[in-house]
Amino acid sequence: MALLETKNLSINFGGLWAVKDVDFFIDSGEIVGLIGPNGSGKTTFLNIISGIYRASKGAVTLRGEDITTLRPFEIFQKGIARTYQSSRLCWDLSVADNILMGLYTAQKSGVMDIILRPGKVNDEIYSALQECMDMLSYFNPEIFKRRYDLTKNIPHIDRRRIEICRALVGSPAVLMLDEPTAGLNDEETMRMMKDIHKIKQKIQDICIIIIEHDMKVMERVPERIVVFNAGQKIAEGAYRDIISDRDVINAYLGGAAV
Ligand SMILES: Nc1ncnc2c1ncn2[C@@H]1O[C@H](COP(=O)(O)OP(=O)(O)OP(=O)(O)O)[C@@H](O)[C@H]1O
Ligand SMILES: [Mg+2]
Repeated sequence: MALLETKNLSINFGGLWAVKDVDFFIDSGEIVGLIGPNGSGKTTFLNIISGIYRASKGAVTLRGEDITTLRPFEIFQKGIARTYQSSRLCWDLSVADNILMGLYTAQKSGVMDIILRPGKVNDEIYSALQECMDMLSYFNPEIFKRRYDLTKNIPHIDRRRIEICRALVGSPAVLMLDEPTAGLNDEETMRMMKDIHKIKQKIQDICIIIIEHDMKVMERVPERIVVFNAGQKIAEGAYRDIISDRDVINAYLGGAAV
């Protein structure tokens, strides 16, 4: 049994099938890339898995358990975390404040704990903040020194790292990255690729789904690539097989292999 699986996963928006009958799996420790033209359903696919959208049909299972109808925070607590295509950070807040704001889903305490056991809640928040800061320093030791700087004043790659580290708090089994190198230059893209490998070194069993348009990233990061077109999976395999697949070339690579 795969760690995470989808069967016939589909969603319809007013007559348009944004995702249609997608069978997908990822095993523990694997990195899988998702590619496809703009509007082909990649982000929507992650939105269904993470509970933001409710599937019109089909199922998502995690370790064999059906999680299709769970709410986003329940899916996060089951061990599926993600980042977003566009930044979810508040640029006028400090790095530390942004981390704290993003950690509320990692919090296990409830309202009664806040009233009756505030010390326990504080400890929990502090340890999540510490975990996130440790991970950030693992990517870039300089960030810790800038933790009270406004987020808008720190480099774009470090802002991306904050979002990834927030997602990693609580050690998820599955990490889904939606275009982590968007807006990064070539050198920063190389550093981001190293960061993704670093995540694997630190958390060996984690599986990572990465959406990317940059074929350099797709060549070097995932072990397997799944290709979407018009909401459907049209191909799947190693980078070498994908770039020579006729359907993929027609749909995505503009008629010429890269
Ligand atoms: N909430 C929604 N309501 C209606 N249509 C939607 C909604 N969310 C997504 N769609 C549509 O679903 C299709 C797939 O969009 P999606 O954002 O998943 O594409 P994508 O593959 O991530 O594209 P990109 O590479 O540009 O990020 C698009 O036609 C989009 O307009
Ligand atoms: Mg998208």
